Amino acid sequence: MSKLKTKFVCQQCGSESGKWLGRCPECGEWNSMVEEVAVKKSEVRMSSTPVSKPRPINMVDTSALPRLLTGVNEFDRVLGGGIVPGTLFLIGGDPGIGKSTLLLQVAAGIADRYGSVLYISGEESAAQIKLRAERLGKISNNLLIFTENNLDTIVLEALHHKPALVIIDSIQTMYSPEIPSAPGSVGQVRESTGKLMRFAKESGIPTAIIGHVTKDGNIAGPRLLEHMVDVVLYFEGERSYAFRVLRAIKNRFGSTNESGIFSMEERGLIEVANPSGFLLAERPQGAPGSVVLAYMEGVRPLLIEIQALVSTTCFGMPRRMAAGFDYNRLILLMAVLEKRVGLMLANQDAYVNAVGGFKIVEPAADLPVALAIASSFRGMAVDPYTVVMGEVGLTGEVRMITRVEARISEAAALGFKRFVIPAGNYSGLKLPRTTGLELIGVASVSEAMEAVFV
Ligand code: TYD
Ligand code: MG
Repeated sequence: MSKLKTKFVCQQCGSESGKWLGRCPECGEWNSMVEEVAVKKSEVRMSSTPVSKPRPINMVDTSALPRLLTGVNEFDRVLGGGIVPGTLFLIGGDPGIGKSTLLLQVAAGIADRYGSVLYISGEESAAQIKLRAERLGKISNNLLIFTENNLDTIVLEALHHKPALVIIDSIQTMYSPEIPSAPGSVGQVRESTGKLMRFAKESGIPTAIIGHVTKDGNIAGPRLLEHMVDVVLYFEGERSYAFRVLRAIKNRFGSTNESGIFSMEERGLIEVANPSGFLLAERPQGAPGSVVLAYMEGVRPLLIEIQALVSTTCFGMPRRMAAGFDYNRLILLMAVLEKRVGLMLANQDAYVNAVGGFKIVEPAADLPVALAIASSFRGMAVDPYTVVMGEVGLTGEVRMITRVEARISEAAALGFKRFVIPAGNYSGLKLPRTTGLELIGVASVSEAMEAVFV
């Protein structure tokens, strides 16, 4: 086989060079030159699939998409009801969060139902993977372990075995021999993913790629793989907590609103039946600074405890710290409490924590965070059967949020009785008024404080 030549292409402007350059001579961008395999014009094929003709949309057959069920129900749900044949999907997450564990469980489920699964590991030895599989308690002879980093060898082996599923753990350890740069570099990761895409589409074998999120929060650098694959899933959580969330960021075969909730236990990942109960398990009752929030994780309501601790600072500059909540949002809410509600927080340290290692990104958390800070500052507890939700604006107004009914139903099922919600949501609420629930619509942070501190 003749050795393919490589070239360097600027990711910013597309200009090419025969050697690597730190700065693109065309557009002047730094570090934008990425190595690629040079393909002769005559070798370029538009598509590897047979030639198709335009046809009316109503004549397109969609019945030929039977999905593979992995038996890990939360995983199947996030994918939109199982794995579509020929899908290339990416599972991203921090190192050590449990990606290999999750996919080994998925592999075991597929091996039980549909035949062989090829698990390719470029990180761990076969013995390490066997030890993990033993820990999970499921070992099938259909599970084939292959420790290899050369992607050409992997594709040949996969075409030979024709497994029901291929798993690549991880894309950062794989390399294509045509590209001389090290595994994990942008050029390598892109070329390898491109090859896997062709493999999955041509063979119809679903292929899962594990990708570690790098320090700047992207998988292998500049959100490189996301547009190349069919499905992007992120596995998130705090390593020191058991709670894990699987989210779909992109899904060509389903919605991105679903999320799967797991707990990392001694024997692998367990699906959590009642995540709100799980998250609230150790909640102190009647302690100042603790407020329960009804949060939407995609289409799923979850109850999360927000804790705040406010204490007079010993330093010139007060400290502010947020765990699981946006730091800048915390600063903003404290400014609103100071200016619009009149709490003297300028000389106070403040710490806010979303309990359970959960990362909160929804604006509905604003009001509960503000009330938790006020509760700790005043030393007054919020009633433990109260749930708070609402976005806070810069003038101290409480703004409307989505899906209030779903949030209230989830909380009511867990025994919560009082609900502090935005006034805008209160008027249009479609809930039976006879349920014994007390609903309080508030238009501002001050009104919310009057409602909870009596
Ligand atoms: P792993 O799947 O190796 O993470 P990743 O592939 O994302 O880097 O899981 C790493 C952690 O999970 C490790 O610290 C040990 C823990 N773990 C459990 O708590 N229980 C288990 O059953 C397994 C297999 C792992
Ligand atoms: Mg791993």
